[in-house]
Amino acid sequence: PTHSKSVKQDEESKQELEAYIEEAKKNVNPRYRLTYHVSAPVGWINDPNGFSFYRGRYHLFYQYYPYDSKWGPMHWGHVSSTDLATWEYLPTALIPEEEMCFSGSAVVDDNDRLVLMYTGRLNTDEDPFFTESQYLAFSDDGVNFTKYEGNPVLQSAPNGSPDFRDPKAWRHGDYWYVVIGSQNEGHGRVLLYRSPDLIQWEFLSVLGESEGDMGYMWECPDFFELDGKYVLLMSPQGLEAKGDRFMNLHQTGYIIGDFSYDTFEFTPIEEFKEIDFGHDFYAATTTEVDGRRLLIAWFGMWEREFPEAEDGWAGAMTIVRSLKLDDKNRLIMEPISEMESLRQDLTQVKLQSGDSYDFGKAVELLVTGSVDEKISLLFEGRDGGAFAEVSWNPAVGKVVIDRNDGDIRQVEWEPADSFEWRIFLDTSSIELFCGGEVVFSTRVYALGGWRVSNRSSQTLNIRSYDLKQSIF
Ligand code: FRU
Repeated sequence: PTHSKSVKQDEESKQELEAYIEEAKKNVNPRYRLTYHVSAPVGWINDPNGFSFYRGRYHLFYQYYPYDSKWGPMHWGHVSSTDLATWEYLPTALIPEEEMCFSGSAVVDDNDRLVLMYTGRLNTDEDPFFTESQYLAFSDDGVNFTKYEGNPVLQSAPNGSPDFRDPKAWRHGDYWYVVIGSQNEGHGRVLLYRSPDLIQWEFLSVLGESEGDMGYMWECPDFFELDGKYVLLMSPQGLEAKGDRFMNLHQTGYIIGDFSYDTFEFTPIEEFKEIDFGHDFYAATTTEVDGRRLLIAWFGMWEREFPEAEDGWAGAMTIVRSLKLDDKNRLIMEPISEMESLRQDLTQVKLQSGDSYDFGKAVELLVTGSVDEKISLLFEGRDGGAFAEVSWNPAVGKVVIDRNDGDIRQVEWEPADSFEWRIFLDTSSIELFCGGEVVFSTRVYALGGWRVSNRSSQTLNIRSYDLKQSIF
């Protein structure tokens, strides 16, 4: 009887929360709302969580605080899709109780249940004032989740560090494996565990650790095989900027290496590299479906202004990208082909030097021109708001994105023989793909659709597609 009572109260609080969200949505100011990116329906979101495929549908969860457009006790919000391009909001999957529901992942277990593995974070009265342990929640239908009664399943890090979070689980052979972000005396590290049943976990190895210059904490680790190598993807905190690199407060990047499931040793063969060079990209996570490695990230960064916060929401996800490794051991990140399903009318624009063209709020641009000359495009709101200039100078060999806020991002790029930029514009965002090797994700809070001006002396050709609304 006690048990059924607590379940019933849970149901009530879930229903109240969904009713609250529906009501709060009515007060959202739509001026910056994204039309094909997953974003906070109301309130605040950060990291993508539990990116997975279950019974014919993709599932994506996210760190969610529905009650205010700033960070608060974490819930897991939930969206689902059949094609990774069109998304549907589902009821909030996890609600914090004594534990806040921090980031984690999802796997489909042997009983065909969708299992969420997440960090339960408890705040305490004594120094260091928090603990982090790993928790499970189960679902038979991909919509309703029940927290495991035996939580936590993994109590603490081998060195007792309270920073012990963001489990990313996967299956290999007879075991489940998980990587967890942690730290050791101020050096970020990633821990590897395995389990026969997701309940009993055995510590295997320190998969990677900073030797002092790679940050104090490694958040949101992910680990996978790609084109014959292994990729340790993670979000280190506390890297110092080096020239043009590591310009965000925290970074997201990867180390390529070799790995053995016999020794559990990861041997890096390349240095840590950023995966996206824009202003707003963090806590990337992946899943593999039908042999394709898919990535999504928080289209945001800690400790910056979210101009949409005063509109009743804050935060979004990038579009889904697919990954491959090139022969220089670089991750190549491209928009998934499914994004083409959002294309509507094609417009071909020949933009002469000094000309402008007015596009809608949601549009994909394919820009071509001569790689031997300067290219400069200004992206601004047709009704004002923020703007950004994207440029290429062959003499310097760098692509630059400048929001005129003193925080310029630039990166060296060697274009292939034919120059093409693929640019996804949504109401308040730009994702620029210079091939798959240099990508910038940056929020730009334009108003009233996009005006694009050619500020270079050469004529640029733009093919553009209006993109249909795809988040409901
Ligand atoms: C990364 C992160 C995670 C944590 C979550 C809390 O952005 O700090 O390490 O689980 O956000 O919302």
